[in-house]
Amino acid sequence: MCGIVGYIGTRQAAPIILDGLAKLEYRGYDSAGMAIYDGEEIHITKSVGRLKVLEELTHGGATMPGMIGIGHTRWATHGAPNDINAHPHYNSEHTIAVVHNGIIENYLQLKKKLTDRGYEFVSETDTEILAQMLDYYYTGNPIETIAKVMHRVEGSYALGIIFADHPDEVFAVRKDSPLIVGQSVDGCFIASDVPAVLKYTRQVYFVENEEIVRLRADHMHFYNVDVEEIAKAPVTIEWDANAAEKAGYEHFMLKEMYEQPKTIRETLSPRLRDRDVVIDELQMSVEDIRAVRKFHIVACGSAYHAGVTAKYVIEGLARIPVEVDLASEFRYRDPILEEGAMVIVVSQSGETADTLAALREAKKRGFPVLGIVNVVGSSIAREADRVMYTWAGPEIAVATTKAYSAQLIAFYLLAVKFAKVREQITEKEFQGMLEELQRLPNQIELLLNNKGKIQKFANRYLAAKDVFFIGRGIDYAISLEGSLKLKEISYVHSEAYAAGELKHGTISLIEEGTLVAAVSTQPDLYQKTISNMVEVKARGAFVLAVTNEDNREIERAADYVIYIPQTNPFFANSLAIIPLQLFGYYVAVGKGCDVDKPRNLAKSVTVE
Ligand code: M6R
Repeated sequence: MCGIVGYIGTRQAAPIILDGLAKLEYRGYDSAGMAIYDGEEIHITKSVGRLKVLEELTHGGATMPGMIGIGHTRWATHGAPNDINAHPHYNSEHTIAVVHNGIIENYLQLKKKLTDRGYEFVSETDTEILAQMLDYYYTGNPIETIAKVMHRVEGSYALGIIFADHPDEVFAVRKDSPLIVGQSVDGCFIASDVPAVLKYTRQVYFVENEEIVRLRADHMHFYNVDVEEIAKAPVTIEWDANAAEKAGYEHFMLKEMYEQPKTIRETLSPRLRDRDVVIDELQMSVEDIRAVRKFHIVACGSAYHAGVTAKYVIEGLARIPVEVDLASEFRYRDPILEEGAMVIVVSQSGETADTLAALREAKKRGFPVLGIVNVVGSSIAREADRVMYTWAGPEIAVATTKAYSAQLIAFYLLAVKFAKVREQITEKEFQGMLEELQRLPNQIELLLNNKGKIQKFANRYLAAKDVFFIGRGIDYAISLEGSLKLKEISYVHSEAYAAGELKHGTISLIEEGTLVAAVSTQPDLYQKTISNMVEVKARGAFVLAVTNEDNREIERAADYVIYIPQTNPFFANSLAIIPLQLFGYYVAVGKGCDVDKPRNLAKSVTVE
């Protein structure tokens, strides 16, 4: 959600910024722009639309000479996506330029104050207010001025700033929006995320809340909001730049679906030792594990769906009550957390604003928070008391696949560990589950190899208007994710229902030819789901079933069946979700949608 790239060094800034912004395209945006300082003036070029437009306007950056610059991809919040609202924004004199990710909550008050003092605004954005405030409070000392502005603004921000009277410096600052800086032999960089700079450096610094950075061509200095210089240590990024490239696949999403077996192996293997589950990061003794009375799982989107699955798995195996909340609800609903409760926040990006706020809410109340996070060093990873990384590597496609699969594995590991320690399962059952977990990667490979069949089926549904996903128990959780995958990338309206709920209203929407995807992986519920399939079929629905190899009886109620290999029913989501991901993907491809960057969506939702 909004991407920032900044550079100061010995090379032309514009091509580096364009290149970095391209690496952040996955975050979602609707316009792009750059401010380049040529030593005399700060020049801005910006435009609504894809980055390609900005590249064309500037001939790949060639028409904007200068070795200092900041660039931005905007995901509109305040004001329509258009050329004027695109970033960067100037102060009135064009001596300060700003790019911003986040939301300034008190911007209307600040705007009024500045308007009363004679300032005029050209855009509808909250960011322009920041540029004008920097102008209003400017003392000649950028760090001091930035700190003054920070004391007055409320909300979230990551900023890149250029001051024309400081021709050898660029500034960065953050509060509640992600920002990193890095240094190479050719210069220093600002970015919203690591892939933007990985081509140039692996040594990055995660800018913490309310820290300010002064970047020069050959060094960087860090300050706190009291304008005191602070020391920071760099982090070495281990993953390869190629991990963030498409590697011959047509889309990142397809590549990432194919990475799921590897992701699962990497999430499992460090935690399976000597026929046991060892989750060092939990830092919990046997007594601690036995003392947990309840889990609260809090997340958004697909991570929430992983949490819904976890409720069934943890309650089923470990017999510990689990409440699952959408982070945007949890943070405002004054949740009741009682002694013995443990909060688990789940996030691929580790930057989702609502999830981060939920984490802070739980910590404020004195409860321990475990983060299940993919991005190392992200805000949630840093603020959680303990972190269980999912080791999925960089996920670029907006629609998550491999990170979701890794989240499921993290939950299975927790469930079997707690179940064993709390003596809810026998050693034999435990060992059987470990074997089943280790079989999942190969089983997923088999399902992925079957993609041709699903592509053919998907091509029949390119004109679908509504699709329903139904299931019971874990199959309902799978349906939630299958439905989201389809709708977010193909723009086909889709809903997921607990199969037993259909009769309470939704069944009236079923008409001749409506596609209903019935997920049926839980043997205890086979017959119940078959009854629901028969009900919708009788009303004209075309029924696609996703079920286990042994459930041949389903053929009497389904029009088309996709079989998944046999596994422990608690782990069935990991297999059943694969054909549903492929289905969503191929419908989107068939319709010519922008699969990796669906409209209106951002990879990392860093604003509320
Ligand atoms: O980075 P997070 O896991 O916190 O993101 C949560 C959701 O925004 C995310 O899962 C979203 O729903 C995806 N687009 C789903 O594919």
